Amino acid sequence: MTDSLTVRDNRTGQEYDVPIVDGAIKAADLGKIRTADDEPGLAVYDPGFVNTASCRSAVTFIDGDKGILEYRGYPIEQLAEKSTFLEVAYLLVHGELPTKAEYEAWVHEITFHTFVHENVKSFMEGFRYDAHPMGMLMASVGALSTFYPDAVHISDAENRHMQIVRMIAKMPTLGAWSFRHAQGKPFVYPDNELGYTANFLSMLFKMSEQNYVADPRIVKALDTLFILHADHEQNCSANAVRSVGSSQVDPYSSVAAGIGALYGPLHGGANEAVLRMLRRIGTKDKIPAFIEGVKAGEERLMGFGHRVYKNYDPRAKIIKKACDDVFEVTGVNPLLEIAQELERIALEDEYFVKRKLYPNVDFYSGLIYEALQFPPEMFTVLFAIGRTPGWLAQWNELVQDKEQKIARPKQIYTGERGLTFTPASERWA
Ligand code: CMC
Repeated sequence: MTDSLTVRDNRTGQEYDVPIVDGAIKAADLGKIRTADDEPGLAVYDPGFVNTASCRSAVTFIDGDKGILEYRGYPIEQLAEKSTFLEVAYLLVHGELPTKAEYEAWVHEITFHTFVHENVKSFMEGFRYDAHPMGMLMASVGALSTFYPDAVHISDAENRHMQIVRMIAKMPTLGAWSFRHAQGKPFVYPDNELGYTANFLSMLFKMSEQNYVADPRIVKALDTLFILHADHEQNCSANAVRSVGSSQVDPYSSVAAGIGALYGPLHGGANEAVLRMLRRIGTKDKIPAFIEGVKAGEERLMGFGHRVYKNYDPRAKIIKKACDDVFEVTGVNPLLEIAQELERIALEDEYFVKRKLYPNVDFYSGLIYEALQFPPEMFTVLFAIGRTPGWLAQWNELVQDKEQKIARPKQIYTGERGLTFTPASERWA
């Protein structure tokens, strides 16, 4: 058996041997297939990259058919149960679990960098009173590049480490302030006596009390949600981070692009859409009519389906369990009943079964976030905070990868050619 593909071009009768490495062929090898020397080579047409590997990566492994997700080789179920978000962040960024000393140094560094320049606060105050927090977060992260101009030195490993620490550290501060702004509440400064997630909750919800003490069960649940969202290999936002990062711009600009991608309803915005959908359905008796509408193509069942998972999303299973823990503290979210019934009906329905559509990470996460008093606009911000170490791990890998080039897809041109331009004064005469 030879690890190659023999391609016969029926236009010319010529055969080509294309090497197969790691289950893939190089698209550039197909470019050698051409009908004449001065003709363009064969290209691959793949809108949405459904079957195109854009990089080699050692960060996250997914087997969508089996429902497996691993960060740096560790199953998500084990990390969600036994690790902490900051340890997972270390793992993603560094590739290995930390020693005790490394972990303590990492936590210290992240804690030390939670504050932002006061001018960041001033410009965040300048947003419109009802600004969407995700738009505020995206703009603020992009703006950090102007506070840390040294971040352009992306080939310096120490410098990259500094920016990675800064971004993971400041993301909760920016996220919490985006939330407080729309509520007309004063911004709360970080409390470095608190852990990462407890401090985030303090910046979100602290009012006049001396110290804000969050329920440890809530802290644990939110920390787990951050772990579940920490990376997901080459998804839309990671691809945006890599694509923008491939121009060798600073990491703040790259991550701001990732936040923009995550903002959309087909990616991170789905859990916000799930809640709106559940609220619109309103009562269990309206579910069958809703499902019929979905099957007729009038709308989508939000929180269902995934480009990669053709099985139950492993993160959705863990979140379903976290729901119980959170609702023990907050009381049950009444929309849970509708969600569970919707899931039951969909999983038995031929339309969803045939297309392998299962609940994804967003189906239940919104219910938890709502129970924690977050308005739907904040859901994607929470996703972004969790995803930051993943984006940075992907970016860090990209900038050290000798095979990477500036992202620049081909196109299949469908427009006119060689027209003759007539000036407006003549055309409109
Ligand atoms: N409801 C109804 N039908 C669906 C759904 C859905 N949620 N998702 C896919 N389908 C159908 C789709 O209409 C198509 O049917 P047909 O073959 O008859 O045309 C088939 O299933 C394949 O769908 P697709 O759009 O080609 O699949 P995709 O891989 O391009 O899209 C997706 C993946 C996640 C964008 C899509 O499933 C979707 O829109 N889901 C709802 C939004 C959502 O929950 N997004 C969160 C994704 S998880 C968070 C993350 O990791 O970013």
